[in-house]
Amino acid sequence: MTTHRLLVEVDDLAVRYPIKRGLFVDRTVGHVHAVDGVSLRIRAGETYGLVGESGCGKSTLGRALLRLTEPSEGRVVFDGVDLAGLRGEALRRIRRRLQMVFQDSLASLDPRQSVRSMLLEALRAHALEESSEEATDARMRELLDAVGLPSGALRRYPHEFSGGQRQRLGIARALAVRPDLIVADEPVSALDVSVQAQVLNLLDDLQDEFGLTYLVIAHDLAVVRHVADRVGVMYLGGIVEEGPAGSLYDTPLHPYTRALLSAVPVPDPEVEDRRERILLSGDLPSPAAPPSGCRFHTRCPWRQPTRCADERPVLRRLPGADPGLEAHTVACHYAEVIRSGELRPHRVEPEAVTEVGEPTAAPPPTPASVTEILRR
Ligand SMILES: Nc1ncnc2c1ncn2[C@@H]1O[C@H](COP(=O)(O)OP(=O)(O)OP(=O)(O)O)[C@@H](O)[C@H]1O
Ligand code: SF4
Ligand SMILES: [Mg+2]
Repeated sequence: MTTHRLLVEVDDLAVRYPIKRGLFVDRTVGHVHAVDGVSLRIRAGETYGLVGESGCGKSTLGRALLRLTEPSEGRVVFDGVDLAGLRGEALRRIRRRLQMVFQDSLASLDPRQSVRSMLLEALRAHALEESSEEATDARMRELLDAVGLPSGALRRYPHEFSGGQRQRLGIARALAVRPDLIVADEPVSALDVSVQAQVLNLLDDLQDEFGLTYLVIAHDLAVVRHVADRVGVMYLGGIVEEGPAGSLYDTPLHPYTRALLSAVPVPDPEVEDRRERILLSGDLPSPAAPPSGCRFHTRCPWRQPTRCADERPVLRRLPGADPGLEAHTVACHYAEVIRSGELRPHRVEPEAVTEVGEPTAAPPPTPASVTEILRR
């Protein structure tokens, strides 16, 4: 059940990976801006879905949230505690409450370790073993039961399970230490569609049973729609749109979200025929040289000659949107006139990336200038 208590507060988070070169001495020749100014809130008991193309920084954000990766800037506060200040025992204690489930269950489970020894290790790491071996075994059988695996699984090894079962094992391992937050990084993308639904339903059931809070990361919009209460859409290290799942999927506001959703086929043939298709020109720019201004301007079909290439838009609420955490927010200078339909998409020639800090290239010609529309 979602409460109003904030469990996770992320402010202006940035994670940069140094790019090293050099024959004898490693020189830092640049940085990959994997996460670039992200702020978000997650309430206790809710599921926050994070979507975006491969390489946009989703995993890095998830890892920074659990402090598995050190942030370069910004702040992560978990249940009122700033993670940056924690060391030793205090960090270990909070780590128990933050667990991760990975996409690749085969790589994240030790092939030489039986399920029993894997669960035992997780319990021991946080001194959560019961007083006797029998009681610990009973606890492990309960865990397997909770994720829908038979107790006989305790004696078996990861390769003896199917992909869906291994994902259940990964979930059991995370659950073993009674966490509050689970970051599920692409939890079902390696699975067949029919099995995906089973694992997503399991996550849903466990959330109710154990009062869990989730950050679910996926590149697949359908997966996130299925599970998330609120959704954040990421592009090149930043969140470009955020809102309650229903509102975000029904009325996407950001050009990038609209393009992503326009690529998803609709089962109803009539709706499918009328579906708006927005093709993005050009590839995702490199996060080592992110474009200036709006990070999306090199590919945006609504791009305008003013502001887009030189002013980075921040997430904001449009007039009429709900206040507070239920707000649907968007980072686009022209979201109002795009929403009203006054500004129409146009064909864009892929533009050479102008890096942050460099003088910007001449803006592209556009059919209707927005200043003109705004003046009307
Ligand atoms: N340890 C690292 N060192 C250097 N660069 C990294 C490192 N980890 C990730 N990156 C780079 O940071 C960017 C963001 O990567 P990240 O894995 O967070 O993206 P993602 O959205 O999770 O992608 P995917 O959907 O493919 O998992 C990418 O350009 C990636 O190449
Ligand atoms: S700010 Fe400009 S480039 Fe960015 S999404 Fe909006 S219209 Fe497109
Ligand atoms: Mg990833």
